[in-house]
Amino acid sequence: MKDKMGSECEGPEMSLVCLTDFQAHTREQLSKSTWDFIEGGADDSITRDDNIAAFKRIRLRPRYLRDVSEVDTRTTIQGEEISAPICIAPTGFHCLVWPDGEMSTARAAQAAGICYITSTFASCSLEDIVIAAPEGLRWFQLYVHPDLQLNKQLIQRVESLGFKALVITLDTPVCGNRRHDIRNQLRRNLTLTDLQSPKKGNAIPYFQMTPISTSLCWNDLSWFQSITRLPIILKGILTKEDAELAVKHNVQGIIVSNHGGRQLDEVLASIDALTEVVAAVKGKIEVYLDGGVRTGNDVLKALALGAKCIFLGRPILWGLACKGEHGVKEVLNILTNEFHTSMALTGCRSVAEINRNLVQFSRL
Ligand code: FNR
Repeated sequence: MKDKMGSECEGPEMSLVCLTDFQAHTREQLSKSTWDFIEGGADDSITRDDNIAAFKRIRLRPRYLRDVSEVDTRTTIQGEEISAPICIAPTGFHCLVWPDGEMSTARAAQAAGICYITSTFASCSLEDIVIAAPEGLRWFQLYVHPDLQLNKQLIQRVESLGFKALVITLDTPVCGNRRHDIRNQLRRNLTLTDLQSPKKGNAIPYFQMTPISTSLCWNDLSWFQSITRLPIILKGILTKEDAELAVKHNVQGIIVSNHGGRQLDEVLASIDALTEVVAAVKGKIEVYLDGGVRTGNDVLKALALGAKCIFLGRPILWGLACKGEHGVKEVLNILTNEFHTSMALTGCRSVAEINRNLVQFSRL
């Protein structure tokens, strides 16, 4: 199709060249309530938006004449190699946006050679996800249930299915105040329809419906450590005080995260909280980051400030909503290529060469 200037213009197969192209296209694909559910932040969405804006307040300090003919994006997390420090954060209900939901996500992650954190609120069964991508590196995200025995059963199931780490989400003792979902009455609708797996009976609906523990404390972590050999990663830490406690309680990693701005609004942007958390752990455990990562430069900035890898939340759902497995692959591929370019343009030949001197907080 030609436009008035004689150039090719976008037909139905529009070209999606960056992650925000996928965002715009997703908006056209989904119902308003599903779009609001994915995009929404808590309260005034100050933190959701600041997650993105904060990356843009950081400027890069490139180094040249460093032979970047070979750039290697590979790294490791918890001792496992990944093709790039770009992995998939846990998000629930993938069947809302694509019929076979998490199975497609898992296949795309396996093909890309990166880690996929499967949510407690996955709409496909864990068994189906593993069958879909048996070779993929998977971690499992746990919302701690008030009944400890149910957690134990689930963790044992996860361990026997070959998940490699247990990610415990800390920032949800209660659900954040998401105005769009309240207006759209999403909770009721989700419960009635969308939580059913496409293959009936395959989902884990009872667990999905049940509440998240409001009474979880630091001292409870030893119970989890006593029932699993999996490394434990704490997701949702934003302060040096909690980072120090995480180290003291012998967990293996921290994800600096504010849940994509969906829980407590007006907390620090993830990238702004990263520095103090990294300083507090003093290299004793791995620190990861999620929230607002949309470009290769963002990935580079997070690594320069001490993250071992980043996790993507919404962009994966955009890929899935636009083109299923293929769309998730494209999102991962675009971001990895951008990150490769960012490394080359700042003089980094390997992930190990990315360091604090590459970034500067701008006074803008
Ligand atoms: C989430 N997130 C999330 N976190 C978690 O620990 N368990 C979960 O089930 C979910 N579910 C979920 C659903 C949706 C629709 C979104 C957008 C987010 C939070 C997620 O893991 C991650 O912290 C953020 O999404 C990261 O921010 P970005 O990449 O979306 O900006």
